[in-house]
Amino acid sequence: MPLVALLLASLCALTRGEISNKMGINYGRVGNNLPPPSRSIEHIQSMRAGRVKLYDANPEILKLLSGTEVRVSIMVQNHEIPGIASSQALANEWVRSNVLPYYPATMIRFVLVGNEVLSYNSTDRDRQLWHDLVPAMLRIRNSLRSNSIRNIKVGTPLAMDVVESTFPPSSGRFHSDVAESVMLPLVRFLNSTRSYFFLDVYPYFPWSQNPGDISLDFALFRGNSNYTDPVTGLTYTNLLDQMLDSLIFAMERLGYSNIPLLIAETGWPNSGDIDEPGANIYNAATYNRNLIKKMTAEPPVGTPARPGVLIPTFIFSLYDENRKGGPGTERHWGLLHANGGAVYEIDLTGKRPASTYGALPLPTNNRPYKGKAWCVARTDANLTDLGSALSSACGSGNGMCDALAPGRECHEPASTFRHASYAFSAYWARFRSRGATCYFDGLAEQTARDPSGGSCKFPSVTL
Ligand SMILES: *[C@@H]1O[C@H](CO)[C@@H](O)[C@H](O)[C@H]1NC(C)=O
Ligand SMILES: *[C@@H]1O[C@H](CO)[C@@H](O)[C@H](O)[C@H]1NC(C)=O
Ligand SMILES: *[C@@H]1O[C@H](CO)[C@@H](O)[C@H](O)[C@H]1NC(C)=O
Ligand SMILES: *[C@@H]1O[C@H](CO)[C@@H](O)[C@H](O)[C@H]1NC(C)=O
Repeated sequence: MPLVALLLASLCALTRGEISNKMGINYGRVGNNLPPPSRSIEHIQSMRAGRVKLYDANPEILKLLSGTEVRVSIMVQNHEIPGIASSQALANEWVRSNVLPYYPATMIRFVLVGNEVLSYNSTDRDRQLWHDLVPAMLRIRNSLRSNSIRNIKVGTPLAMDVVESTFPPSSGRFHSDVAESVMLPLVRFLNSTRSYFFLDVYPYFPWSQNPGDISLDFALFRGNSNYTDPVTGLTYTNLLDQMLDSLIFAMERLGYSNIPLLIAETGWPNSGDIDEPGANIYNAATYNRNLIKKMTAEPPVGTPARPGVLIPTFIFSLYDENRKGGPGTERHWGLLHANGGAVYEIDLTGKRPASTYGALPLPTNNRPYKGKAWCVARTDANLTDLGSALSSACGSGNGMCDALAPGRECHEPASTFRHASYAFSAYWARFRSRGATCYFDGLAEQTARDPSGGSCKFPSVTL
């Protein structure tokens, strides 16, 4: 090759940059302030993610990904499962409209059927969905085969709650009400199609529920904290391995010991409510950087039960998503802020030495908060929406908002913001024990600073 061509070729290799085939990103879009898909794909590429996982099969995104090197995972919605389970024609139609227009120019590699289907477990319809799951997967797979598509695997991401116990890992078993009826057909399907077990696995949750019992170092892949499983004699140095191996042992119990694992979601929240310990930028950066180092190591590290085996991993999530309900952490899993700025530096290829990262603010909330808390209107809340939320919170009755009436101690200052804050605090204090959160459609946040003033006392909860 002439020198110029050689130089050009190496320049191209440099500018194209190395992408990480082992690490992917979940592109969740439950936000009303997120960058458009075109900009988001630029972010994904500049972060060098080799894979992206979508929660649907959005046509605009699939078109934009065409011609890129990013491997794509698309998803059948939970509500589409019953129809597809009972009709090959519907499965064919799904593949015809969501795969064929984009494939192969868009490198679709996984079709995931449903999202955490087995975690929905309160109505008859939820449980019917469990039984429709594998039949729907079979039909989607048939349809791909009949279109001669052989490099798209079919899977379904399940949450860690399918496993009854994770400690010690050797005790791992599936819940008895799904083990025979759902998990056995599922692992049989995954084994015979050489697909992956897609698992959503978050060490953050068991740690944050028992921060006194589980060491934070163990959850963040730090230090020497470890224990030995008494049955297998395997030594565990981190919580993720423990959780993964409990699933491996649960599958083994059903007679399947070779189904590869894929982490469909994992991560650590960068912020949260004051009653959610450990949700901060420092821990999130530590977890995700150490995770990437482990998952991109050459040769692969694997887990104690499966040493040396590669586990492709999707981090959750690309952005903080402000329209997710539930506790504050739900809206703070992002590697990026909604405006596209990095929450902290991260290198998905795992090549960047830890010493080159800038210092981060040290965490102040690694221990559970003890004390009083209030629920107040966010300073950026929309006043119209706040007015409606105020009426509906007060509308739940029982004199909860009596103190706001004209002439009463909390009437002044008579601003929507102030009154909504009082109503949110009163509502949260009264109903927290029944599961109410301090969310109010994104209008509210927890605070440890007493908003009371003069003779007006805001109701509080004690954490
Ligand atoms: C579903 O709920 C029942 C009753 O609460 C519980 O016993 C069972 O273990 C749950 N199943 C799964 C798969 O979570
Ligand atoms: C899993 O698949 C492999 C390869 O196709 C096969 O040899 C094995 O028997 C299967 N395992 C079970 C338990 O069916
Ligand atoms: C386990 O912990 C002990 C003592 O804390 C330490 O000496 C040992 O190196 C650790 N083992 C592993 C595999 O990290
Ligand atoms: C506030 O919300 C209302 C409807 O919920 C909307 O019509 C209005 O444009 C919003 N105002 C601002 C400033 O965003």
